[in-house]
Amino acid sequence: MSGELLQISGLRAGYGRIEVLRGINLSVKKGEKVVILGPSGSGKSTLLKCIPYLVRPWSGEIRINGLVVNPDPATLRRIRASTGFVFQQYNLFPHMTVIRNVALPLELGKGMSRREAEKIAQSILDVLGLGELAEKFPLELSGGQQQRAAIARALAIDPKLLLLDEPTSALDPELRYEVVETLYQVAKQGRAMLIVTHELDFAEAAADRVVFIDEGLIVEEGDAKEVLERPKKERTEKFLRRLRSRL
Ligand SMILES: Nc1ncnc2c1ncn2[C@@H]1O[C@H](COP(=O)(O)OP(=O)(O)OP(=O)(O)O)[C@@H](O)[C@H]1O
Ligand SMILES: [Mg+2]
Repeated sequence: MSGELLQISGLRAGYGRIEVLRGINLSVKKGEKVVILGPSGSGKSTLLKCIPYLVRPWSGEIRINGLVVNPDPATLRRIRASTGFVFQQYNLFPHMTVIRNVALPLELGKGMSRREAEKIAQSILDVLGLGELAEKFPLELSGGQQQRAAIARALAIDPKLLLLDEPTSALDPELRYEVVETLYQVAKQGRAMLIVTHELDFAEAAADRVVFIDEGLIVEEGDAKEVLERPKKERTEKFLRRLRSRL
């Protein structure tokens, strides 16, 4: 098979009777960085959540490394053990220290001992420049530090695919920078990333591909620079213009 890590075809999903995703086809190759852009309510978070079945698709197919995602608990365990997820906010358990937060997925998901897990957790925190925060609780950290710790946690299981849903959007502008720096660092590690973000500088510098979604459909996708600098569709162009005027 080709180097496709994630293959989504004909994905439809929604809530109640409201259809949000209306037939999404998208693939991500091993190591590829793909940025998803699109207006509020267009279905970006729903798309990301469908991948590990946090939202159950209505129809279509999702494959990770060739394995078809389905509701069978054993399949979901396998899928979730190879997929890291960072949400917009509230990523960390507030009653646990940073190192406990990062070690937990290794203990629960990989059956490691606490000692073993914390050793790995510490090394990931060290790499991301968060080593000294290991014993702190999330509420003792800035928002940017919390999000970086959340990225560390998502990396703990060494996922083949990292899903990030607007990791900087809940942060004040002066805190975004440090999270974007961390994203650059992670992007260099060679794992596949699917990132919803409106950080256009990051998209331009680090993404291989940009996908623009509107009203539950992919309107345009292509080489990151190409789409950002010379969008072919009017809707993409308008969206980018509005986004840049807000920055
Ligand atoms: N749990 C839910 N129950 C019902 N409707 C939902 C739920 N989550 C999202 N929706 C609706 O589905 C649509 C798409 O939501 P989604 O969160 O995927 O959009 P988005 O592109 O991520 O938007 P944003 O940029 O604001 O995060 C919206 O109309 C939203 O109100
Ligand atoms: Mg969203």
